[in-house]
Amino acid sequence: MNARLSLILLFLSVIPLSASPLIQNPGGRDVTSLNGTWKIIVDPYETGYFDYRHQESAWGYGQDAKPKNKQELLEYDFDRSPSLQVPGDWNSQREDLKYYEGTLWYRKAFEATPKAGKRYFLRFDAANYEAKVWLNGAKLGDHRGGFTPFEFEVSGILKTGRNSVVVKVDNRRHEEAVPTVNTDWWNYGGLTRDVTLIETEATFIRDYAVTLGKDAGTVEAWALLDGPAASGMPVSLKVDGWRAEGRADQTGLVRLLMNADPARWTPEDPRLIDVTLAAGGTSGIHDRIGFRKIETKGVDILLNGKPVFLRGICLHEEPISEKGGRIQNAVQDRELLALAKDLGCNFVRLAHYPHNEAMLREADRLGLMVWAEVPVYWTIQWENAATFENAKSQLEAMIQRDKNRASVVIWSVGNETPRGDARLKFMNGLVDAARSLDTTRLISAALEQSGDLERRVDDPLGHKLDVLGLNEYVGWYDGAPDKCRRVSYSSALEKPLIISEFGGDAKQGLHGPKEERWNEEYQAWIYEEQLPMLDKISNLRGMTPWILKDFRSPRRPLPGIQDGWNRKGLVSNLGKKKKAFAVLKKYYEAKAKTTPSR
Ligand code: GCU
Repeated sequence: MNARLSLILLFLSVIPLSASPLIQNPGGRDVTSLNGTWKIIVDPYETGYFDYRHQESAWGYGQDAKPKNKQELLEYDFDRSPSLQVPGDWNSQREDLKYYEGTLWYRKAFEATPKAGKRYFLRFDAANYEAKVWLNGAKLGDHRGGFTPFEFEVSGILKTGRNSVVVKVDNRRHEEAVPTVNTDWWNYGGLTRDVTLIETEATFIRDYAVTLGKDAGTVEAWALLDGPAASGMPVSLKVDGWRAEGRADQTGLVRLLMNADPARWTPEDPRLIDVTLAAGGTSGIHDRIGFRKIETKGVDILLNGKPVFLRGICLHEEPISEKGGRIQNAVQDRELLALAKDLGCNFVRLAHYPHNEAMLREADRLGLMVWAEVPVYWTIQWENAATFENAKSQLEAMIQRDKNRASVVIWSVGNETPRGDARLKFMNGLVDAARSLDTTRLISAALEQSGDLERRVDDPLGHKLDVLGLNEYVGWYDGAPDKCRRVSYSSALEKPLIISEFGGDAKQGLHGPKEERWNEEYQAWIYEEQLPMLDKISNLRGMTPWILKDFRSPRRPLPGIQDGWNRKGLVSNLGKKKKAFAVLKKYYEAKAKTTPSR
Protein backbone atom coordinates (compact mmCIF):
# COMPACT_ATOMS: atom_id res chain seq x y z
CA MET A 1 0.00 0.00 0.00
CA ASN A 2 1.57 3.35 -1.00
CA ALA A 3 2.50 6.00 1.58
CA ARG A 4 -0.22 8.46 0.54
CA LEU A 5 -2.95 5.84 0.76
CA SER A 6 -1.70 4.73 4.16
CA LEU A 7 -1.75 8.37 5.31
CA ILE A 8 -5.39 8.70 4.20
CA LEU A 9 -6.24 5.48 5.96
CA LEU A 10 -4.88 6.82 9.25
CA PHE A 11 -7.92 9.06 9.46
CA LEU A 12 -10.45 6.36 8.74
CA SER A 13 -12.08 4.24 11.44
CA VAL A 14 -13.08 1.45 9.05
CA ILE A 15 -10.31 0.56 6.66
CA PRO A 16 -10.59 -0.83 3.10
CA LEU A 17 -9.20 -4.34 2.77
CA SER A 18 -5.81 -4.15 1.08
CA ALA A 19 -6.70 -7.10 -1.20
CA SER A 20 -9.45 -6.66 -3.77
CA PRO A 21 -12.51 -6.52 -1.50
CA LEU A 22 -15.79 -8.20 -2.40
CA ILE A 23 -18.57 -6.09 -3.85
CA GLN A 24 -20.24 -4.33 -0.92
CA ASN A 25 -24.04 -4.57 -0.63
CA PRO A 26 -24.68 -6.79 -3.67
CA GLY A 27 -28.42 -6.54 -2.97
CA GLY A 28 -28.21 -2.85 -3.84
CA ARG A 29 -26.83 -3.58 -7.31
CA ASP A 30 -28.13 -4.95 -10.63
CA VAL A 31 -28.33 -8.65 -9.74
CA THR A 32 -29.80 -11.71 -11.40
CA SER A 33 -30.62 -14.53 -9.03
CA LEU A 34 -29.34 -17.99 -9.88
CA ASN A 35 -31.26 -19.51 -6.99
CA GLY A 36 -33.65 -22.37 -7.63
CA THR A 37 -33.26 -25.90 -8.99
CA TRP A 38 -29.71 -27.05 -9.70
CA LYS A 39 -28.73 -30.42 -11.06
CA ILE A 40 -26.44 -32.43 -8.79
CA ILE A 41 -24.06 -35.39 -8.77
CA VAL A 42 -23.07 -37.00 -5.46
CA ASP A 43 -19.37 -37.82 -5.82
CA PRO A 44 -17.75 -39.30 -2.67
CA TYR A 45 -14.64 -40.45 -4.61
CA GLU A 46 -14.24 -37.08 -6.46
CA THR A 47 -14.45 -38.95 -9.75
CA GLY A 48 -15.54 -35.71 -11.40
CA TYR A 49 -12.29 -34.00 -10.41
CA PHE A 50 -9.43 -36.55 -10.29
CA ASP A 51 -8.40 -39.11 -12.90
CA TYR A 52 -7.49 -42.68 -11.91
CA ARG A 53 -3.95 -41.50 -11.09
CA HIS A 54 -5.55 -38.98 -8.68
CA GLN A 55 -4.43 -36.06 -10.83
CA GLU A 56 -6.80 -33.19 -11.62
CA SER A 57 -8.60 -34.22 -14.79
CA ALA A 58 -9.08 -31.78 -17.68
CA TRP A 59 -12.28 -33.62 -18.59
CA GLY A 60 -13.97 -33.43 -15.20
CA TYR A 61 -17.57 -32.60 -14.41
CA GLY A 62 -16.66 -28.91 -14.48
CA GLN A 63 -16.81 -29.12 -18.28
CA ASP A 64 -20.53 -30.07 -18.18
CA ALA A 65 -19.79 -31.90 -21.45
CA LYS A 66 -22.07 -33.87 -23.76
CA PRO A 67 -20.90 -36.77 -26.00
CA LYS A 68 -20.09 -35.42 -29.49
CA ASN A 69 -21.16 -38.70 -31.08
CA LYS A 70 -22.43 -42.15 -30.21
CA GLN A 71 -18.88 -43.48 -29.86
CA GLU A 72 -17.68 -40.94 -27.31
CA LEU A 73 -17.53 -42.25 -23.71
CA LEU A 74 -18.90 -39.90 -21.07
CA GLU A 75 -20.01 -41.31 -17.71
CA TYR A 76 -21.96 -38.35 -16.39
CA ASP A 77 -24.80 -36.14 -17.63
CA PHE A 78 -26.05 -33.28 -15.51
CA ASP A 79 -29.23 -32.93 -17.60
CA ARG A 80 -30.31 -36.44 -16.61
CA SER A 81 -29.13 -36.15 -12.99
CA PRO A 82 -31.19 -35.45 -9.83
CA SER A 83 -31.61 -31.93 -8.49
CA LEU A 84 -31.54 -29.92 -5.25
CA GLN A 85 -32.70 -26.45 -4.28
CA VAL A 86 -30.19 -23.60 -3.97
CA PRO A 87 -29.78 -22.01 -1.49
CA GLY A 88 -29.92 -24.96 0.81
CA ASP A 89 -27.75 -27.56 2.50
CA TRP A 90 -28.00 -31.07 1.05
CA ASN A 91 -28.32 -32.80 4.45
CA SER A 92 -31.82 -31.53 5.19
CA GLN A 93 -33.06 -31.83 1.59
CA ARG A 94 -32.55 -35.55 1.15
CA GLU A 95 -32.72 -38.28 3.81
CA ASP A 96 -29.94 -40.24 2.09
CA LEU A 97 -27.67 -37.15 2.36
CA LYS A 98 -28.43 -36.44 6.03
CA TYR A 99 -24.97 -37.53 7.22
CA TYR A 100 -23.16 -37.11 3.89
CA GLU A 101 -19.70 -35.56 4.12
CA GLY A 102 -17.86 -35.36 0.84
CA THR A 103 -18.11 -33.83 -2.63
CA LEU A 104 -21.38 -32.96 -4.29
CA TRP A 105 -21.46 -31.28 -7.73
CA TYR A 106 -23.98 -28.60 -8.66
CA ARG A 107 -24.82 -27.38 -12.19
CA LYS A 108 -27.03 -24.50 -13.25
CA ALA A 109 -27.71 -23.77 -16.91
CA PHE A 110 -28.98 -20.22 -17.42
CA GLU A 111 -29.56 -17.67 -20.19
CA ALA A 112 -27.70 -14.33 -20.24
CA THR A 113 -27.35 -11.35 -22.55
CA PRO A 114 -24.18 -9.56 -21.42
CA LYS A 115 -24.04 -5.91 -22.54
CA ALA A 116 -21.01 -4.17 -24.03
CA GLY A 117 -19.28 -1.87 -21.55
CA LYS A 118 -20.66 -3.70 -18.52
CA ARG A 119 -18.84 -6.06 -16.14
CA TYR A 120 -20.18 -9.27 -14.63
CA PHE A 121 -19.45 -11.04 -11.36
CA LEU A 122 -20.60 -14.47 -10.22
CA ARG A 123 -21.20 -14.32 -6.45
CA PHE A 124 -21.77 -17.07 -3.89
CA ASP A 125 -22.95 -15.85 -0.48
CA ALA A 126 -21.63 -19.07 1.09
CA ALA A 127 -20.69 -22.67 0.28
CA ASN A 128 -19.73 -25.10 3.04
CA TYR A 129 -16.89 -25.92 3.14
CA GLU A 130 -14.65 -25.85 0.03
CA ALA A 131 -15.93 -24.82 -3.40
CA LYS A 132 -14.39 -24.99 -6.89
CA VAL A 133 -16.22 -23.12 -9.65
CA TRP A 134 -16.35 -23.40 -13.45
CA LEU A 135 -18.29 -21.24 -15.92
CA ASN A 136 -18.75 -22.53 -19.45
CA GLY A 137 -15.92 -25.01 -18.83
CA ALA A 138 -13.44 -22.33 -17.66
CA LYS A 139 -12.20 -22.89 -14.10
CA LEU A 140 -12.79 -19.63 -12.18
CA GLY A 141 -11.13 -20.59 -8.90
CA ASP A 142 -11.91 -21.93 -5.47
CA HIS A 143 -12.84 -20.82 -1.95
CA ARG A 144 -12.43 -22.30 1.53
CA GLY A 145 -14.61 -21.37 4.51
CA GLY A 146 -18.25 -22.28 4.97
CA PHE A 147 -19.84 -18.99 6.00
CA THR A 148 -18.35 -16.09 4.01
CA PRO A 149 -19.11 -14.84 0.49
CA PHE A 150 -16.85 -15.17 -2.55
CA GLU A 151 -17.09 -14.00 -6.16
CA PHE A 152 -15.36 -14.22 -9.54
CA GLU A 153 -15.34 -11.69 -12.37
CA VAL A 154 -16.81 -13.45 -15.41
CA SER A 155 -16.79 -10.56 -17.91
CA GLY A 156 -15.82 -12.08 -21.26
CA ILE A 157 -16.58 -15.65 -20.05
CA LEU A 158 -20.32 -15.06 -19.67
CA LYS A 159 -21.90 -15.77 -23.04
CA THR A 160 -25.00 -14.52 -24.84
CA GLY A 161 -27.49 -17.39 -24.67
CA ARG A 162 -26.96 -20.55 -22.63
CA ASN A 163 -24.36 -20.55 -19.85
CA SER A 164 -23.38 -23.37 -17.51
CA VAL A 165 -22.01 -22.84 -14.01
CA VAL A 166 -20.65 -25.92 -12.23
CA VAL A 167 -19.59 -25.99 -8.57
CA LYS A 168 -17.78 -28.75 -6.68
CA VAL A 169 -18.65 -28.43 -2.98
CA ASP A 170 -16.80 -30.56 -0.44
CA ASN A 171 -17.89 -30.37 3.21
CA ARG A 172 -15.40 -32.85 4.63
CA ARG A 173 -13.91 -31.79 7.97
CA HIS A 174 -10.14 -31.43 8.34
CA GLU A 175 -7.85 -31.01 11.38
CA GLU A 176 -6.26 -27.94 9.80
CA ALA A 177 -9.59 -26.35 8.81
CA VAL A 178 -11.56 -23.53 10.49
CA PRO A 179 -13.57 -24.95 12.21
CA THR A 180 -11.59 -28.11 12.83
CA VAL A 181 -13.06 -31.63 12.96
CA ASN A 182 -15.03 -31.32 16.21
CA THR A 183 -17.96 -28.96 16.49
CA ASP A 184 -21.27 -29.13 18.31
CA TRP A 185 -23.34 -28.33 15.24
CA TRP A 186 -24.35 -30.26 12.12
CA ASN A 187 -21.84 -30.08 9.27
CA TYR A 188 -24.41 -28.87 6.73
CA GLY A 189 -22.80 -29.01 3.27
CA GLY A 190 -23.68 -27.30 0.04
CA LEU A 191 -24.51 -24.01 -1.63
CA THR A 192 -26.17 -22.84 1.55
CA ARG A 193 -26.80 -19.19 0.59
CA ASP A 194 -27.81 -17.16 -2.49
CA VAL A 195 -25.99 -17.35 -5.82
CA THR A 196 -26.23 -14.22 -7.97
CA LEU A 197 -24.86 -12.67 -11.16
CA ILE A 198 -23.95 -9.01 -10.56
CA GLU A 199 -23.78 -6.47 -13.42
CA THR A 200 -21.74 -3.28 -12.94
CA GLU A 201 -20.48 -0.34 -14.96
CA ALA A 202 -16.99 -0.69 -16.40
CA THR A 203 -15.84 1.53 -13.52
CA PHE A 204 -17.93 1.12 -10.37
CA ILE A 205 -17.91 1.52 -6.59
CA ARG A 206 -16.66 -1.84 -5.38
CA ASP A 207 -16.58 -1.16 -1.65
CA TYR A 208 -17.51 1.59 0.79
CA ALA A 209 -17.96 2.41 4.46
CA VAL A 210 -20.11 5.15 5.97
CA THR A 211 -19.82 5.83 9.70
CA LEU A 212 -20.08 8.59 12.26
CA GLY A 213 -16.93 10.70 12.09
CA LYS A 214 -14.44 10.99 14.91
CA ASP A 215 -15.59 14.59 15.52
CA ALA A 216 -19.12 15.16 16.78
CA GLY A 217 -21.53 16.28 14.08
CA THR A 218 -19.61 14.66 11.25
CA VAL A 219 -20.05 11.60 9.05
CA GLU A 220 -17.03 10.05 7.36
CA ALA A 221 -17.04 7.72 4.39
CA TRP A 222 -14.73 6.18 1.88
CA ALA A 223 -15.45 4.50 -1.42
CA LEU A 224 -13.15 2.28 -3.46
CA LEU A 225 -13.67 2.44 -7.21
CA ASP A 226 -12.69 -0.36 -9.56
CA GLY A 227 -12.23 0.15 -13.29
CA PRO A 228 -10.20 1.91 -15.96
CA ALA A 229 -11.71 5.35 -15.30
CA ALA A 230 -11.45 5.20 -11.47
CA SER A 231 -8.64 7.73 -11.00
CA GLY A 232 -10.09 11.23 -10.75
CA MET A 233 -13.71 10.05 -11.07
CA PRO A 234 -16.18 12.22 -9.12
CA VAL A 235 -18.06 10.47 -6.31
CA SER A 236 -21.06 11.83 -4.42
CA LEU A 237 -22.44 10.76 -1.07
CA LYS A 238 -25.94 11.45 0.22
CA VAL A 239 -26.80 10.75 3.84
CA ASP A 240 -30.43 11.70 4.36
CA GLY A 241 -30.44 15.36 3.25
CA TRP A 242 -26.70 15.88 3.64
CA ARG A 243 -24.38 15.70 0.60
CA ALA A 244 -20.62 15.50 0.00
CA GLU A 245 -18.56 15.17 -3.16
CA GLY A 246 -15.01 14.11 -3.88
CA ARG A 247 -12.76 12.62 -6.52
CA ALA A 248 -11.08 9.23 -6.45
CA ASP A 249 -7.28 9.26 -6.21
CA GLN A 250 -4.99 7.20 -8.42
CA THR A 251 -5.71 4.11 -6.34
CA GLY A 252 -9.46 4.55 -6.86
CA LEU A 253 -10.01 5.55 -3.22
CA VAL A 254 -12.05 8.62 -2.26
CA ARG A 255 -12.45 9.82 1.30
CA LEU A 256 -15.47 11.95 2.12
CA LEU A 257 -16.13 13.97 5.27
CA MET A 258 -19.36 15.87 5.86
CA ASN A 259 -20.95 17.93 8.60
CA ALA A 260 -23.99 15.83 9.35
CA ASP A 261 -25.80 14.69 12.47
CA PRO A 262 -28.09 11.81 11.49
CA ALA A 263 -30.57 10.41 14.03
CA ARG A 264 -28.91 7.70 16.10
CA TRP A 265 -29.67 3.99 15.89
CA THR A 266 -30.72 2.41 19.17
CA PRO A 267 -32.48 -0.87 19.99
CA GLU A 268 -35.46 1.13 21.20
CA ASP A 269 -35.51 3.34 18.07
CA PRO A 270 -33.50 1.56 15.31
CA ARG A 271 -33.32 4.46 12.86
CA LEU A 272 -31.92 3.47 9.45
CA ILE A 273 -30.85 6.37 7.24
CA ASP A 274 -31.05 6.37 3.43
CA VAL A 275 -27.51 6.53 2.02
CA THR A 276 -26.63 6.80 -1.67
CA LEU A 277 -23.14 6.67 -3.16
CA ALA A 278 -22.75 7.50 -6.85
CA ALA A 279 -19.69 7.60 -9.11
CA GLY A 280 -19.27 9.33 -12.45
CA GLY A 281 -22.84 10.50 -12.69
CA THR A 282 -24.37 6.99 -12.44
CA SER A 283 -27.60 6.51 -10.45
CA GLY A 284 -25.61 5.14 -7.53
CA ILE A 285 -25.89 2.45 -4.88
CA HIS A 286 -28.54 2.73 -2.18
CA ASP A 287 -28.08 1.41 1.35
CA ARG A 288 -29.89 1.77 4.69
CA ILE A 289 -27.38 2.45 7.45
CA GLY A 290 -27.78 3.00 11.19
CA PHE A 291 -25.51 5.53 12.88
CA ARG A 292 -24.45 4.77 16.45
CA LYS A 293 -21.37 4.69 18.63
CA ILE A 294 -20.32 1.72 20.76
CA GLU A 295 -17.44 1.93 23.23
CA THR A 296 -16.38 0.82 26.69
CA LYS A 297 -15.56 2.95 29.69
CA GLY A 298 -14.13 0.97 32.59
CA VAL A 299 -16.55 -1.93 33.06
CA ASP A 300 -19.39 -0.18 31.22
CA ILE A 301 -20.47 -0.65 27.62
CA LEU A 302 -21.71 2.66 26.22
CA LEU A 303 -24.14 2.92 23.32
CA ASN A 304 -24.25 6.50 22.05
CA GLY A 305 -22.57 7.52 25.29
CA LYS A 306 -25.05 5.81 27.62
CA PRO A 307 -24.38 2.63 29.69
CA VAL A 308 -26.26 -0.37 28.29
CA PHE A 309 -26.87 -3.93 29.48
CA LEU A 310 -26.90 -6.48 26.65
CA ARG A 311 -29.97 -8.68 27.15
CA GLY A 312 -29.10 -11.42 24.72
CA ILE A 313 -29.55 -14.94 23.50
CA CYS A 314 -27.42 -17.21 21.28
CA LEU A 315 -28.58 -18.36 17.85
CA HIS A 316 -27.34 -20.92 15.35
CA GLU A 317 -28.23 -20.23 11.71
CA GLU A 318 -30.90 -22.92 11.58
CA PRO A 319 -34.60 -22.27 10.88
CA ILE A 320 -37.58 -23.19 13.00
CA SER A 321 -38.44 -26.46 11.24
CA GLU A 322 -38.93 -30.21 11.50
CA LYS A 323 -35.63 -31.03 9.81
CA GLY A 324 -33.21 -28.24 10.81
CA GLY A 325 -30.83 -27.36 7.98
CA ARG A 326 -29.31 -24.01 7.14
CA ILE A 327 -31.51 -20.90 6.96
CA GLN A 328 -32.43 -20.22 3.32
CA ASN A 329 -34.16 -16.83 3.35
CA ALA A 330 -34.86 -13.64 5.27
CA VAL A 331 -38.31 -14.87 6.39
CA GLN A 332 -36.60 -17.60 8.43
CA ASP A 333 -34.14 -15.03 9.83
CA ARG A 334 -37.07 -12.85 10.85
CA GLU A 335 -38.86 -15.73 12.61
CA LEU A 336 -35.85 -16.37 14.86
CA LEU A 337 -35.18 -12.69 15.59
CA ALA A 338 -38.87 -12.11 16.35
CA LEU A 339 -38.61 -14.79 19.06
CA ALA A 340 -35.55 -12.99 20.47
CA LYS A 341 -37.54 -9.74 20.56
CA ASP A 342 -40.43 -11.58 22.26
CA LEU A 343 -37.92 -12.78 24.87
CA GLY A 344 -37.09 -9.12 25.62
CA CYS A 345 -33.66 -9.13 23.95
CA ASN A 346 -31.75 -6.11 22.68
CA PHE A 347 -28.81 -8.35 21.69
CA VAL A 348 -28.10 -11.66 19.91
CA ARG A 349 -24.95 -13.74 19.68
CA LEU A 350 -24.83 -15.16 16.15
CA ALA A 351 -22.87 -18.31 17.00
CA HIS A 352 -20.39 -19.66 15.96
CA TYR A 353 -19.76 -18.34 12.44
CA PRO A 354 -20.80 -15.38 10.25
CA HIS A 355 -24.55 -15.64 9.62
CA ASN A 356 -26.17 -14.63 6.32
CA GLU A 357 -26.21 -10.91 5.47
CA ALA A 358 -30.02 -10.72 5.68
CA MET A 359 -29.83 -11.73 9.36
CA LEU A 360 -27.67 -8.67 10.03
CA ARG A 361 -29.98 -6.40 8.03
CA GLU A 362 -32.98 -7.77 9.94
CA ALA A 363 -31.15 -7.11 13.22
CA ASP A 364 -30.50 -3.54 12.00
CA ARG A 365 -34.20 -3.15 11.28
CA LEU A 366 -35.47 -4.77 14.51
CA GLY A 367 -33.02 -3.02 16.85
CA LEU A 368 -30.97 -6.00 17.98
CA MET A 369 -27.27 -5.51 18.70
CA VAL A 370 -25.12 -8.38 17.41
CA TRP A 371 -22.10 -10.38 18.59
CA ALA A 372 -20.68 -11.68 15.29
CA GLU A 373 -18.15 -14.52 15.34
CA VAL A 374 -15.73 -16.58 13.25
CA PRO A 375 -15.67 -20.39 13.69
CA VAL A 376 -12.36 -20.45 15.59
CA TYR A 377 -13.88 -23.07 17.82
CA TRP A 378 -12.29 -25.44 20.36
CA THR A 379 -9.11 -27.25 19.24
CA ILE A 380 -7.91 -25.34 16.16
CA GLN A 381 -4.41 -26.10 14.80
CA TRP A 382 -2.74 -23.15 16.52
CA GLU A 383 0.78 -23.88 15.15
CA ASN A 384 -0.38 -24.11 11.53
CA ALA A 385 0.33 -20.87 9.60
CA ALA A 386 -2.13 -21.85 6.85
CA THR A 387 -4.83 -22.34 9.50
CA PHE A 388 -4.14 -18.85 10.86
CA GLU A 389 -4.37 -17.36 7.37
CA ASN A 390 -7.65 -19.23 6.86
CA ALA A 391 -9.10 -17.88 10.14
CA LYS A 392 -7.82 -14.36 9.37
CA SER A 393 -9.34 -14.35 5.88
CA GLN A 394 -12.71 -15.48 7.29
CA LEU A 395 -12.52 -12.72 9.91
CA GLU A 396 -11.59 -10.12 7.28
CA ALA A 397 -14.42 -11.31 4.99
CA MET A 398 -16.92 -11.01 7.84
CA ILE A 399 -15.78 -7.47 8.73
CA GLN A 400 -15.58 -6.43 5.07
CA ARG A 401 -19.16 -7.63 4.45
CA ASP A 402 -20.81 -6.30 7.64
CA LYS A 403 -18.86 -3.12 8.44
CA ASN A 404 -21.90 -0.95 7.58
CA ARG A 405 -24.33 -2.82 9.83
CA ALA A 406 -25.21 -0.79 12.94
CA SER A 407 -26.40 -3.95 14.70
CA VAL A 408 -22.91 -5.44 14.81
CA VAL A 409 -21.29 -4.10 17.98
CA ILE A 410 -18.87 -6.95 18.76
CA TRP A 411 -16.49 -8.96 16.59
CA SER A 412 -15.65 -12.22 18.31
CA VAL A 413 -12.45 -13.98 17.36
CA GLY A 414 -13.36 -17.35 18.83
CA ASN A 415 -15.14 -19.67 21.19
CA GLU A 416 -13.83 -21.77 24.07
CA THR A 417 -10.32 -22.08 22.70
CA PRO A 418 -8.08 -23.91 25.23
CA ARG A 419 -5.29 -21.84 26.80
CA GLY A 420 -1.74 -22.21 25.50
CA ASP A 421 1.09 -20.11 24.10
CA ALA A 422 0.43 -21.04 20.47
CA ARG A 423 -3.29 -20.38 20.92
CA LEU A 424 -2.62 -17.01 22.52
CA LYS A 425 -0.34 -15.93 19.65
CA PHE A 426 -2.92 -17.10 17.11
CA MET A 427 -5.84 -15.36 18.83
CA ASN A 428 -3.90 -12.16 19.51
CA GLY A 429 -3.08 -12.13 15.80
CA LEU A 430 -6.79 -12.27 15.00
CA VAL A 431 -7.52 -9.43 17.43
CA ASP A 432 -4.83 -7.32 15.74
CA ALA A 433 -6.32 -8.12 12.33
CA ALA A 434 -9.83 -7.09 13.44
CA ARG A 435 -8.55 -3.90 15.09
CA SER A 436 -6.58 -2.97 11.97
CA LEU A 437 -9.76 -3.13 9.88
CA ASP A 438 -12.29 -1.60 12.25
CA THR A 439 -11.73 0.70 15.24
CA THR A 440 -15.45 1.45 15.62
CA ARG A 441 -16.49 -1.86 17.22
CA LEU A 442 -15.60 -3.90 20.30
CA ILE A 443 -13.64 -7.14 20.16
CA SER A 444 -14.36 -10.15 22.34
CA ALA A 445 -14.16 -13.95 22.58
CA ALA A 446 -15.54 -16.69 24.82
CA LEU A 447 -12.63 -17.17 27.24
CA GLU A 448 -11.41 -19.69 29.82
CA GLN A 449 -11.79 -19.33 33.59
CA SER A 450 -10.10 -20.85 36.63
CA GLY A 451 -11.32 -21.96 40.05
CA ASP A 452 -14.43 -23.79 41.17
CA LEU A 453 -16.47 -21.95 43.80
CA GLU A 454 -14.45 -18.73 43.61
CA ARG A 455 -13.97 -18.34 39.88
CA ARG A 456 -11.71 -15.92 38.09
CA VAL A 457 -11.86 -14.85 34.46
CA ASP A 458 -8.09 -14.69 34.05
CA ASP A 459 -7.54 -15.85 30.47
CA PRO A 460 -4.51 -13.89 29.11
CA LEU A 461 -6.38 -13.38 25.84
CA GLY A 462 -8.50 -10.88 27.80
CA HIS A 463 -5.67 -8.33 27.75
CA LYS A 464 -6.23 -7.53 24.07
CA LEU A 465 -10.02 -7.65 24.20
CA ASP A 466 -12.44 -4.81 24.86
CA VAL A 467 -15.06 -7.11 26.37
CA LEU A 468 -14.51 -10.39 28.21
CA GLY A 469 -16.74 -13.31 27.23
CA LEU A 470 -17.24 -16.44 29.32
CA ASN A 471 -19.23 -19.63 28.81
CA GLU A 472 -20.20 -21.46 32.00
CA TYR A 473 -22.59 -24.33 32.66
CA VAL A 474 -23.14 -24.41 36.39
CA GLY A 475 -26.23 -26.56 36.84
CA TRP A 476 -25.78 -28.66 33.71
CA TYR A 477 -22.17 -29.82 33.07
CA ASP A 478 -21.06 -28.48 36.40
CA GLY A 479 -23.05 -29.63 39.43
CA ALA A 480 -26.74 -29.20 40.15
CA PRO A 481 -28.44 -25.84 39.65
CA ASP A 482 -28.29 -24.97 43.37
CA LYS A 483 -24.47 -25.01 43.09
CA CYS A 484 -24.99 -21.50 41.65
CA ARG A 485 -25.60 -20.29 45.22
CA ARG A 486 -22.01 -21.20 46.14
CA VAL A 487 -20.23 -19.88 43.06
CA SER A 488 -18.84 -16.36 42.63
CA TYR A 489 -17.03 -14.76 39.71
CA SER A 490 -14.33 -12.11 39.54
CA SER A 491 -12.31 -10.86 36.58
CA ALA A 492 -8.58 -10.26 36.47
CA LEU A 493 -9.19 -7.24 34.24
CA GLU A 494 -11.32 -4.12 34.81
CA LYS A 495 -13.36 -4.73 31.65
CA PRO A 496 -17.03 -5.47 30.90
CA LEU A 497 -17.97 -9.16 31.12
CA ILE A 498 -20.59 -10.91 28.99
CA ILE A 499 -21.63 -14.41 30.05
CA SER A 500 -21.67 -15.71 26.47
CA GLU A 501 -23.22 -19.07 27.33
CA PHE A 502 -25.07 -20.81 30.14
CA GLY A 503 -28.09 -23.17 30.17
CA GLY A 504 -29.05 -26.81 29.92
CA ASP A 505 -31.06 -29.30 27.91
CA ALA A 506 -34.79 -29.95 28.11
CA LYS A 507 -37.04 -31.95 25.82
CA GLN A 508 -39.98 -29.66 25.09
CA GLY A 509 -43.18 -31.12 26.54
CA LEU A 510 -41.36 -33.40 29.00
CA HIS A 511 -42.41 -32.53 32.56
CA GLY A 512 -41.55 -33.84 36.01
CA PRO A 513 -39.82 -32.97 39.28
CA LYS A 514 -37.31 -30.18 38.80
CA GLU A 515 -34.54 -32.43 40.19
CA GLU A 516 -34.81 -34.71 37.14
CA ARG A 517 -32.68 -33.82 34.09
CA TRP A 518 -34.13 -33.43 30.60
CA ASN A 519 -37.50 -32.07 31.68
CA GLU A 520 -38.58 -28.47 31.30
CA GLU A 521 -38.70 -27.91 35.05
CA TYR A 522 -35.00 -28.77 35.43
CA GLN A 523 -34.02 -26.35 32.66
CA ALA A 524 -36.17 -23.62 34.24
CA TRP A 525 -34.51 -24.36 37.59
CA ILE A 526 -31.07 -23.76 35.99
CA TYR A 527 -32.21 -20.29 34.89
CA GLU A 528 -33.82 -19.52 38.26
CA GLU A 529 -30.49 -20.27 39.99
CA GLN A 530 -28.15 -18.82 37.32
CA LEU A 531 -29.70 -15.35 37.11
CA PRO A 532 -29.21 -14.36 40.78
CA MET A 533 -25.65 -15.74 40.62
CA LEU A 534 -24.87 -13.63 37.55
CA ASP A 535 -26.47 -10.53 39.06
CA LYS A 536 -23.76 -10.56 41.73
CA ILE A 537 -20.97 -10.10 39.17
CA SER A 538 -19.94 -6.46 39.45
CA ASN A 539 -18.63 -6.13 35.85
CA LEU A 540 -21.45 -8.12 34.22
CA ARG A 541 -22.72 -6.03 31.31
CA GLY A 542 -24.52 -8.65 29.23
CA MET A 543 -25.47 -12.27 28.73
CA THR A 544 -26.36 -14.58 25.86
CA PRO A 545 -27.71 -17.83 27.31
CA TRP A 546 -27.24 -20.94 25.21
CA ILE A 547 -29.52 -21.03 23.11
CA LEU A 548 -32.74 -19.72 21.56
CA LYS A 549 -33.74 -22.87 19.65
CA ASP A 550 -32.88 -26.58 19.75
CA PHE A 551 -30.45 -27.35 16.93
CA ARG A 552 -29.06 -30.39 15.16
CA SER A 553 -25.81 -31.91 16.38
CA PRO A 554 -24.35 -35.40 15.76
CA ARG A 555 -22.91 -35.20 19.29
CA ARG A 556 -26.36 -35.58 20.86
CA PRO A 557 -27.70 -39.11 20.25
CA LEU A 558 -29.68 -39.82 23.49
CA PRO A 559 -32.72 -41.75 22.18
CA GLY A 560 -36.14 -40.28 22.89
CA ILE A 561 -34.64 -37.09 24.27
CA GLN A 562 -31.97 -35.72 21.91
CA ASP A 563 -32.17 -37.95 18.78
CA GLY A 564 -29.46 -35.86 17.11
CA TRP A 565 -30.60 -32.52 18.55
CA ASN A 566 -28.94 -30.31 21.14
CA ARG A 567 -31.92 -29.54 23.39
CA LYS A 568 -30.62 -26.44 25.20
CA GLY A 569 -33.05 -24.25 23.25
CA LEU A 570 -35.59 -22.10 25.09
CA VAL A 571 -37.85 -23.23 22.27
CA SER A 572 -38.02 -26.57 20.45
CA ASN A 573 -36.92 -26.94 16.82
CA LEU A 574 -40.61 -26.33 16.00
CA GLY A 575 -40.59 -23.06 17.93
CA LYS A 576 -42.56 -24.31 20.94
CA LYS A 577 -41.60 -22.45 24.12
CA LYS A 578 -40.26 -24.25 27.19
CA LYS A 579 -40.78 -23.08 30.79
CA ALA A 580 -37.33 -21.47 30.94
CA PHE A 581 -38.38 -19.01 28.19
CA ALA A 582 -40.74 -17.29 30.63
CA VAL A 583 -38.09 -17.25 33.40
CA LEU A 584 -35.62 -15.37 31.21
CA LYS A 585 -38.31 -13.14 29.71
CA LYS A 586 -39.40 -12.01 33.18
CA TYR A 587 -35.78 -11.27 34.11
CA TYR A 588 -35.21 -9.24 30.94
CA GLU A 589 -38.40 -7.24 31.46
CA ALA A 590 -37.08 -6.13 34.85
CA LYS A 591 -33.56 -5.62 33.51
CA ALA A 592 -34.85 -3.32 30.75
CA LYS A 593 -36.02 -0.90 33.44
CA THR A 594 -32.60 -0.56 35.09
CA THR A 595 -29.31 0.98 33.97
CA PRO A 596 -26.15 -0.98 34.67
CA SER A 597 -24.03 0.42 37.46
CA ARG A 598 -21.18 -0.91 39.60
C1 GCU B 1 -20.26 -25.11 24.40
C2 GCU B 1 -20.19 -24.60 22.97
C3 GCU B 1 -21.50 -24.71 22.24
C4 GCU B 1 -22.15 -26.04 22.60
C5 GCU B 1 -22.54 -25.94 24.05
C6 GCU B 1 -23.19 -27.25 24.54
O1 GCU B 1 -20.08 -24.08 25.27
O2 GCU B 1 -19.74 -23.26 22.88
O3 GCU B 1 -21.23 -24.65 20.84
O4 GCU B 1 -23.29 -26.31 21.79
O5 GCU B 1 -21.41 -25.73 24.87
O6 GCU B 1 -22.46 -28.06 25.10
O7 GCU B 1 -24.39 -27.40 24.32
